[in-house]
Amino acid sequence: MLAIETSCDETAIAIVNGTSLGNTTHFTVHGNALISQIDLHRPYGGVFPTLAKREHAKNLVPLTRAVLEEAELLHEDTQNISEKDLNEVARALEREPDLAEQFLNMVTEIEIPEIDTIVVTAGPGLPPALWVGVSFARALAYVWHKPLVAVNHMEGHLLSALAKRTNDTELEIENITLPVLALLISGGHTELVLMRNWLSYELIGQTRDDAVGEAFDKVARMLGLPYPGGPEISKIAEEVRFEKNKEMLFELPRPMIADDTCDFSFSGLKTAVLYTIKDRTEKLSGDGSMKEFTVPPITEKEKRYIAYEFENAVSDVLLSKTMRAIEKTNARTLVLGGGVSANVHIGRVFAKELSQKYPNMSLCIPHQSLSTDNAIMIALAGFYHAQKGDFTAPQDIAADGNASLA
Ligand code: KG4
Ligand code: ZN
Repeated sequence: MLAIETSCDETAIAIVNGTSLGNTTHFTVHGNALISQIDLHRPYGGVFPTLAKREHAKNLVPLTRAVLEEAELLHEDTQNISEKDLNEVARALEREPDLAEQFLNMVTEIEIPEIDTIVVTAGPGLPPALWVGVSFARALAYVWHKPLVAVNHMEGHLLSALAKRTNDTELEIENITLPVLALLISGGHTELVLMRNWLSYELIGQTRDDAVGEAFDKVARMLGLPYPGGPEISKIAEEVRFEKNKEMLFELPRPMIADDTCDFSFSGLKTAVLYTIKDRTEKLSGDGSMKEFTVPPITEKEKRYIAYEFENAVSDVLLSKTMRAIEKTNARTLVLGGGVSANVHIGRVFAKELSQKYPNMSLCIPHQSLSTDNAIMIALAGFYHAQKGDFTAPQDIAADGNASLA
């Protein structure tokens, strides 16, 4: 499979081979390349969709060549493309003139590679970003005459958590005990999803406002930390966590923790951080002797303590809702997936609670190389769908920014 991911701010392509034997699927990664746009979006404090789209369009052809070369599937040879295929390519890439030109240069210079299937993220994500990848995949499917599989990005996050990495290029998914409950936490999503039968999903709970990753990013911004905020908050919160004499400097709410549903809400927590910072300013300038603009800026210590309390509040809520969902569903395997599953504190808290309360349940967290967006996870999901014959005709494939798993 050649798998393509462009849902957000990473352009990623991977070439992965999958083979199933009984309950075990073995994956070999032959090529894997990713260009992160993080540095470009940083000045905006988040992802800027039209910039993401432009960068994906610029990166797709060089990345495809790079992974084909890595997989030893790149063979230079002049190709004649039929009039019919040229028309199809022109139609698929009509909104991407620069990409169309690069694309035609590539496919007229290299042989059709020995791959069986093209897999692409169709949603959820930023529509302009998704469309670039989908149109590119569609054009490739036409000129190379390969079947096409459309994949849900969140399913990629979920399945990659189930994969054990045996070495740098080998992954295995085996003997998964159903039902699987997945807490999917990323920049755009926060949801609890149940897989009672393989590849069939039921929504158990979701955020009513912000996603967890979004809250990490916004709080980081309030603290003057760079985008993406998750790793930054985690780094300074960890410093407090291992301090001997911790002070109780700030207290934040645990939104909806006592509520009977498995739903979440993080926008209030984000606002609480904003007020915590504001209150401090008011306190310091309160008697009028100190004007607001002379209030000393938030100290490094205050930043660390806010990050620490914020991370505690988030993990308390995530844990409590997930435990509620386990009780409701009798799940046997718990998955943490999506970019925020890279958070060490959240991982530790879940591992501890599960070993105490449900020692027979297994906890699956993606290998750190697979936790944030990548194309290997898209290949994994594509493999199981191809196995089921879940193909999409190139003329029918479409991006869906709001695609849901259940
Ligand atoms: O899954 P992902 O790469 O992209 C989306 O599908 O959204 O997730 C990105 C999100 C960002 O919000 C980022 O701040 C967060 O994952 N993130 C983390 C950590 N690493 C990435 N959040 C908390 N702790 C981390 N270590
Ligand atoms: Zn993601």
